[in-house]
Amino acid sequence: MKVLFYMTHADAAEWLHDFARALPEADLREWQPGDTAPADFAVVWRPPREMLAGRDDLRAILNLGAGVDAILGLEHAQPGTLPRNAQLIRLEDSGMALQMTEYVTHAVLRYLRRFDDYQTLQGERRWQVLEPHPRETFTVGVLGLGVLGSHVAQTLAGFGLPVRGYSRSARQIDGITTFAGDAQFDAFLDGVKVLVNLLPHTPETGDVLNARTFSKLARGAYLINVARGGHLVEQDLLDALGSGQLTAATLDVFREEPLPADHLFWREPRITITPHVSALTLRSESVEQVARKIKALARGDTVGGVVNLERGY
Ligand code: NAP
Ligand code: GLV
Repeated sequence: MKVLFYMTHADAAEWLHDFARALPEADLREWQPGDTAPADFAVVWRPPREMLAGRDDLRAILNLGAGVDAILGLEHAQPGTLPRNAQLIRLEDSGMALQMTEYVTHAVLRYLRRFDDYQTLQGERRWQVLEPHPRETFTVGVLGLGVLGSHVAQTLAGFGLPVRGYSRSARQIDGITTFAGDAQFDAFLDGVKVLVNLLPHTPETGDVLNARTFSKLARGAYLINVARGGHLVEQDLLDALGSGQLTAATLDVFREEPLPADHLFWREPRITITPHVSALTLRSESVEQVARKIKALARGDTVGGVVNLERGY
């Protein structure tokens, strides 16, 4: 079987080396511009259009990330980018759920236990006990109950916090109050104190973090966006912080990455910024998962993580 590989990471050579070890039976090559020779599978992260367009021999494209919005964005901008016969397959967890849970838990506990307020007091050399947030109204709402969102939601429920979850189709998860579909969106948001976004970025979910959404949350709520920058209407966040509807936000993802040096977010102390690191693609776990799926597909078996192209995730 012939496998094409493309990624722009600085350590691409190491990835290629590890894939060669995991797939010794494969004829594996790094794609170079102009390479149109036959291939059965493509393993990619943010590939250029010319790598994929017209490759009707490809059976599957294996995306080295959980989100497929970049690759579907290429197809949207230039229909015909995705080969007709190829399945698009994303990473499932591969070590990301634990990382994402650590990141979100850190942010939620920081807000719950008022670490920012204590840091301010420390700067003023003031020894003062602050009124704790009542746990029973410190409701966390998790948008997206997939591989990552469900892990995050269950972990937070373990701290005794009221946790809600929102998905497209109805889900039942122990300890979580679940909501599904547009009709239940407002009920999900109503009075939420910390809103965590773990939705995929699709035409339906773009701009979901907007003024209307914020207005339904508890006054002084917190936002944690770890999914995609395209979910957030940036000016609406600044306005909500200005009005006091939101107290603070933790953002890992941005419309433009890297976040431009002159972006207003850098100057807003109530916004915590990290450079898209909440859940990294881990090499050994990802190579193992992708190699396992390629072997299964080559045998004619089905695999998990197949993207529904109509839904966009
Ligand atoms: P997933 O397993 O596909 O889960 C997606 C969840 O969102 C599902 O529960 C799905 O509902 C729900 N959903 C999708 N469209 C919806 C809609 N229109 N209305 C309501 N619910 C909707 O995805 P995942 O693996 O958890 O990853 C989620 C996202 O996290 C990725 O797409 C990516 O953008 C982001 N991510 C970010 C990082 C980072 O480092 N910042 C790392 C990895 C991933 P159903 O359950 O009904 O299908
Ligand atoms: C990272 O953002 C991913 O989608 O895996």
